[in-house]
This record gives sequence, C-alpha cells and structure tokens, in this order.
Amino acid sequence: MSVASTAPQPERHDPEAAAAPLGGGSSRPVPPPGAPDDHYEFHSYTVHPSGRRNVVEFVDTYKSFGPNQILRGLTMGLPEGMVSMILGPSGTGKSVCIKHMVGLLYPDSGDVLVHGESVPNMTESRLFEMRKKFGLLFQDGALFSSMNLYDNVAFPLRHHTNKSEQEIEEIVMRRLKEVGLGNARERFPNELSGGMRKRAGFARALVLGPDIVLFDEPDSGLDPVRTALLGELILEVHREMVEEAKAEGKEFLPTFAVVTHDIMSARRVADYINVLWRGRIVEAGPAEAMLNSENPFIRQFLAGDSQGPLSMD
Ligand SMILES: Nc1ncnc2c1ncn2[C@@H]1O[C@H](COP(=O)(O)OP(=O)(O)OP(=O)(O)O)[C@@H](O)[C@H]1O
Ligand SMILES: [Mg+2]
Repeated sequence: MSVASTAPQPERHDPEAAAAPLGGGSSRPVPPPGAPDDHYEFHSYTVHPSGRRNVVEFVDTYKSFGPNQILRGLTMGLPEGMVSMILGPSGTGKSVCIKHMVGLLYPDSGDVLVHGESVPNMTESRLFEMRKKFGLLFQDGALFSSMNLYDNVAFPLRHHTNKSEQEIEEIVMRRLKEVGLGNARERFPNELSGGMRKRAGFARALVLGPDIVLFDEPDSGLDPVRTALLGELILEVHREMVEEAKAEGKEFLPTFAVVTHDIMSARRVADYINVLWRGRIVEAGPAEAMLNSENPFIRQFLAGDSQGPLSMD
C-alpha cells in the first residue's frame, strides 16, 4: 500500500497533522519519510481501548542517532494502573523508549508526556522532581558494588528525602522482605545470585513510592522458573501498590511497564501489550485483545514462531 505517494506528507513537527486522517477516511498514519512502503504493511496502528487514561504518552516521536533512525513516529501510551509490556525485536528501541520517559534522552521531534506534561520541555528542576515519580529497574539490578544490600536499597531515600534513619529502616526492611531478601541485608552484591540482584534492584526501585515503575528486561539471565517467580512478584507487588494507592486516595494508580523478550512472561504478567517494530507501534491493547489478534506480525511475535513476517533482516 502506497499511502505516502497519494497523501500529503505531514510536517513531522506537527502532531495534529500526523494524527489527521488521510484521504478516504482512513486514520492510518503515513509511513515515516524515506521508509520503503512494505516496511509498515503489518503496522495496523490499532490501539484496542484500555478504558484508562495514559500516564506516559509518546506522540509522533522521532529519534535518530546519526544515520540510525530508531523511533520513527512512535505513538504509544501506558494506561494508568496497569502492568504494560513493551515487546519488540532486539534493537528496535525499547531501551531508548524508557530513556525518553525519564528524560535521559530527548526526541528529535514529537513529544513525550508524563502525567500530561511534556518531558523535553521541562526545566532541570522540574525534571528532577518528575524523575521521583519513577522507579527504574535496570537489567543487572545496577547495584553499587561497594555497598551492602541494605545501603543500596536505602540510597534513594538518603539522597531524595529528609527521612530519619529509623523511618528509612522501616521502609527498606519492608521492601527487602517483600522481595524475599529480609535476611540478606548485610550481603554485598557480589555475594548474591543474579535473581537476588534483580529482586534487590526491584526493592530499591520501590522505596520512593513511585507512580510508575519501569523494568528493562527484568528476566534477562534468569532461568525459566526464576523468570516465572519474578513475574509473579511483579504482579503481586503491583496489586498491593494499587490497593495502597486506593486506600490513600493517591492521584494516580501505580503503573508498571515491563520491557521483555520473554513471550511467556508477557502472557502471564501483562494487562496491556505494546508491540514495537521499526520505531512504531504495530498494534497495542489489553492482553486478551492482543493474544487474539489476527495481525500476522502480532500472531507470529506473541507465539514466538519462526514463520511469519518477522525475519532476521
Ligand atoms: N546513546 C546512543 N547512541 C547511539 N546509538 C544508540 C544509543 N542508544 C541506543 N542506540 C541504538 O539504538 C538502537 C536501539 O537500541 P535499544 O537499546 O533501545 O534497543 P532494544 O530494543 O532495547 O534492544 P534489546 O532488546 O536488544 O535490548 C540500537 O541500534 C542502538 O545501537
Ligand atoms: Mg534494551
């Protein structure tokens, strides 16, 4: 389908133009400038409704590194109070996405909104405040090797709050117990298994009471059983945080976003699934709608099948 040749190219910097329906009443966006027509034939851009507002939103976001175009008109949301998955082939820009959410990278054009506020337009001090809304879990747990587990988990509280050591201890021990590390507080990261390091990173990501928790491949390097257990832990902690937020009348329900390759995790854990390919969302929606999708790319990807539109290109 050659939409680009028949429809006027929208200005990349004008989100309204990009969202405008094309001729013939179709709301399908035009492919990115310079993209071969058939590269986007499986991008249905269907977003099955979640019934929730988005706490994070990408609006026609473009990002290149030199000649490498990574985000190419990405429009994607994370619905409030849900556990979302961001799935996509390796090198598609999933980690790049996460870095845009917390203002570690800025888009070349388009926008990234957190609670409706434009991240690239924030002042330094606003950005600093905004980052406190996030808990981040990196691949290896990103623990400080010179500190024991307790001090690692206490670190954000000591740096970002004026809490007393007694209050800090209460929070840290609660989180450590929650992830099954209540008895390991004195241990150093090199004395922990990969799975334990991840759980410690998870505990640390939660201590500031974040509205949004981002997990970048929490399952990498874990065996299938530990991956399943971590998935359960993520769900359990999310449920508990939602209950707490409701009881406290918090403005926003906690939202989790998990970047993963593990289709089984996605099937078990996700409330909502975003499938990313070639810098754009192919299709997104509540897990059930996605697992029943007729889109050949989505079917292939969610089944982990070698046959289908996705090849080793
Ligand atoms: N700071 C940077 N400078 C230059 N290129 C970068 C930078 N960050 C990411 N890239 C490139 O952007 C592309 C997407 O990277 P990214 O890490 O987001 O992929 P990914 O989807 O997370 O992949 P994986 O599943 O393997 O983790 C890669 O080609 C990477 O080399
Ligand atoms: Mg990555």
